[in-house]
Amino acid sequence: MKDNVDYSATAKVLHWLALILIVIQFPLGFLMPPTGRHSMPSASVNLHFSIGFVILILFTIRLGWRLAYPVAMEPSLDAWQKKLAHTAHWILYLLTFATLLDGWIHASVRGWPIRFFGLIPVPPICPAGSEIAHFIGKFHKGFALTLLAGIAVHFAGVMYHEFVQDDRILERMLPRNARGWRMRFS
Ligand code: HEM
Ligand code: HEM
Repeated sequence: MKDNVDYSATAKVLHWLALILIVIQFPLGFLMPPTGRHSMPSASVNLHFSIGFVILILFTIRLGWRLAYPVAMEPSLDAWQKKLAHTAHWILYLLTFATLLDGWIHASVRGWPIRFFGLIPVPPICPAGSEIAHFIGKFHKGFALTLLAGIAVHFAGVMYHEFVQDDRILERMLPRNARGWRMRFS
């Protein structure tokens, strides 16, 4: 079966929704007060967990959608550019899942109760106090910062295509009725 030419409305909604939540999740992660050894996580930490799980659900659906409905790379790109963009997209998926799952490990290993928006209890992903999980959980911040760098490179790449190459890469991820906006306003 041939790959689709365009991103579907579902793929676009999932892409931009994930961006909005990730934009909230980073400052929340950095600004929430650190939790002491024997204290319980604060409301902002609980919000960080809950938004994290919404991102996890969205990204799982998104990954399934991408695998079920693959989209061909922009045909005007050179072969090496297609390969680079394809690899970059998979790295973004990998880093996002690594950050999410490691955050879950980071919270579980401390024995913290995780409640989705204060309502639904979420089981721990590893036993509390596990030494190896404690070690792995320490990489959450590192994964988050690497993801941030990856998003910055992705953004810079899209802006390069938009303002230097002047092609339709950005348009591919915009709503259908936003097509040709550059022509209308230039
Ligand atoms: C893409 C999603 C996520 C991003 C970008 C993110 C980002 C961050 C950042 C930047 C920090 C601050 C690190 C520091 O200054 O030490 C942090 C801390 C933390 N995050 Fe996440 N996080 C995400 C998802 C999650 C998830 C799903 C969980 C758990 C279910 C989680 C649990 C934690 C915990 C336990 C801390 C440390 C809190 C503390 O020490 O008081 N994170 N996160
Ligand atoms: C910062 C603002 C962002 C802009 C302007 C942007 C723009 C775009 C554009 C135009 C495409 C289509 C590229 C193509 O067809 O070759 C795309 C695809 C993609 N973007 Fe972004 N993006 C942004 C943020 C993010 C974030 C935060 C993530 C997730 C960590 C992300 C992950 C992806 C992935 C994985 C694809 C490949 C298509 C897919 O599987 O959904 N983007 N982005």
